[in-house]
Amino acid sequence: MKVSCANFDRTGDIMIIPVFKDFDKAPNNTTVGLGRGPSIAVKAAAASDAISGKVGESLSVWTKGCTVIFIGVGKKGKLTHKVARDTGAKCLSSLSKDLGSDIVIRFTSGWSTENMNAFAEGMMLRDYQFDKYQKKDEENNHDGWTLECQAHDRHLEALSESIEKASLVTTGVHLSRDLANEPANRLYPEEFGRRALEWAEGKDNVEVEVWDYARLQKEGMHGVIAVGKGSIRKPCMVFFRLNPNVQSGEQVPCIVGKGITFDTGGISIKPSQGMWDMKYDMHGSATVFGLFQALWATGYEGRVNGITCMAENMPSAEAYRPGDVIDTYSGKTIEIFSTDAEGRNVLSDGLWKAAELNPSYIVDLATLTGACVVALGQEASGLWSNDDNLRDRIHQAGNSVDELAWPMPLLPAFEKEMTSSKFADVRNGGKGRYGGANTAAAFLKQFIQDREDENGDKSEIPWAHLDIAGTAWNVDTNACVAHGGTGVHVRTLHHLITQG
Ligand code: BES
Ligand code: MN
Ligand code: ZN
Repeated sequence: MKVSCANFDRTGDIMIIPVFKDFDKAPNNTTVGLGRGPSIAVKAAAASDAISGKVGESLSVWTKGCTVIFIGVGKKGKLTHKVARDTGAKCLSSLSKDLGSDIVIRFTSGWSTENMNAFAEGMMLRDYQFDKYQKKDEENNHDGWTLECQAHDRHLEALSESIEKASLVTTGVHLSRDLANEPANRLYPEEFGRRALEWAEGKDNVEVEVWDYARLQKEGMHGVIAVGKGSIRKPCMVFFRLNPNVQSGEQVPCIVGKGITFDTGGISIKPSQGMWDMKYDMHGSATVFGLFQALWATGYEGRVNGITCMAENMPSAEAYRPGDVIDTYSGKTIEIFSTDAEGRNVLSDGLWKAAELNPSYIVDLATLTGACVVALGQEASGLWSNDDNLRDRIHQAGNSVDELAWPMPLLPAFEKEMTSSKFADVRNGGKGRYGGANTAAAFLKQFIQDREDENGDKSEIPWAHLDIAGTAWNVDTNACVAHGGTGVHVRTLHHLITQG
């Protein structure tokens, strides 16, 4: 979608006029550029009882050359960026391509730059399809929408700047959805690595490095190896570096993603019901990749590290088994209770490695547990942290972009449970099913290294874990995406890193 800003002048093929609840006549500037006849019809429609301005209401008025659509956004003083974004998204999804492709939105009076931006952002986010494996419908050939946001001159500078930024961040969200939507026969660990390398080509301030199977063995990354060795598609680790040559010696963020390109459960195999969805078990990694695209596209000048832990979890003669005791990169051993609790095994290596990069903080993202979906539904990701400040900042960043991250407890009792194996240092499953999302987080915490200063004093590295099992896929209540991968937390982390 091409987006621009201008004052009230031209009309498009489609002209959208957001209206507040109980408005009584067409807002000023509604009919600028329309002919006399159409203006009369549009004004009459606005003054009628056919639309009151309640959230979600709409009224279309066809005129020759331009279809005018009034969209209700609710009470004037009550408009939030969430309502604005969701209304923009729903509005775009309802447009028929038969009306043309040139959209104009008129933000008349009562709009803040933030809310205008959110409305346009909703339209951009929602303008997404994953149809690369489907025959194109020749008749429905549409080159894509163009969007012109019209507002008073005094808003234009700030509005253009924020909309330009939102459109660049959206490229990251859409990339992350693309990766999540790719089926596992086409996107396997090394293919993810190949795409990351391809993405980095020609960008002079990014570096991508892929550690293949041989390298993982050399480094002793047996958490990733154990999970991935049952598949003929071998595991790998992918390192993303933005602006690698600045802030040397300084602590910078490191973002780690779970990247299970397909999760069958392995020998602890899952029931077939719903298993097809497990191609999105790499959405944590998809978010990391999309985040780097968003940071790069918006010209972020700081240094950032990313690590994605890629493996396919398959049952086979080569697969790891329940009861196995595996080594990890950390030197700690893990007793496997379930090969289906594989995400935490691959993350154990990624998190330990992250601490070696002298991070200011570590954030991991993972479709880690069904228990998190039971606890929070699909409205919020679970958020665990060993650091109150980092937890608050992520919670706030999530609120600012309407991607909720809900604080969850990291209790000593859960850590005790996960370190109570009789045969290894850590166990990969809790003793029962209770608190399954919390015990998973407590497991991950065992792989966050302390840092040591020059005096040999140790301190904890701030770390946060986001369980996105419920928020990353097929979220019916997410207006900004029709189905499939949501690209969740690309915007949260972009906000955290650039503004938080
Ligand atoms: N990838 C799944 C978690 C998941 C479930 C994500 C549903 C999205 C939707 C994860 O690897 C898993 O299988 N977790 C187990 C953990 C258990 C074996 C301790 C689970 O949640 O049942
Ligand atoms: Mn699993
Ligand atoms: Zn999984």
